[in-house]
Amino acid sequence: MSPFITLEGGDGAGKTTQTGLLVERLRMVGIDVIQVREPGGTALGEALRPLIKGEVDASPLAELLLLETARAQLVEEVIAPALQAGKTIVSDRFYDSTVAYQGFGRGLDLQIIQDLNRIASAGISPDATILLDLEPSAALSRIGNGADQRSDPAGQQRFESQPLEFHERLIEGYHSLAAEDPSRWFVIDASSSVDRVGEKIWAVVSSVLRL
Ligand code: TMP
Repeated sequence: MSPFITLEGGDGAGKTTQTGLLVERLRMVGIDVIQVREPGGTALGEALRPLIKGEVDASPLAELLLLETARAQLVEEVIAPALQAGKTIVSDRFYDSTVAYQGFGRGLDLQIIQDLNRIASAGISPDATILLDLEPSAALSRIGNGADQRSDPAGQQRFESQPLEFHERLIEGYHSLAAEDPSRWFVIDASSSVDRVGEKIWAVVSSVLRL
């Protein structure tokens, strides 16, 4: 199967911008790449996205199940067929977000999350995961001053409006995931300029893909 690369991080870390830049650069060197995002990437996932991001109230368990529903559809409809057809996938978030946000952030049972992640992803796991690492206070002030490229209109901010401690817990979650599996995770300091972070991501991806 062809490579599957994911970008992870807290809100405001710059994932959306960097995912776009990475995909552009991969295409420039002739790689056949498909860009997806979670939640989203299919008609069902894009319909669920505004609900998940905060349009209506949802309990933590209901939120988890909506995320896994969107993921199951994305894997079956887009990711699995693309990988089988030899295309590279770059995803703005994947199942590690659920461990970080719903597990470490919301406090849901990690074993249940891992079981649901495995079911929804049909056993597919990323080959390389880039963590855009940024202090939550810096990331949230980026969102506040509009420096972060938001992928959705204002008002869908269930996660971004959570207290700082929520964001601190989920970053801690990401750090422990990265420490558990250092051969898959690449932690990149996201506090520098867009270009500098982009170069660091490119160094990782070009070495993983042996370009
Ligand atoms: P984003 O695409 O702008 O990062 O927004 C997606 C939001 O959904 C973000 O706040 C993180 C959240 N999210 C979860 O809480 N769990 C998940 O599994 C995923 C994929 C996203």
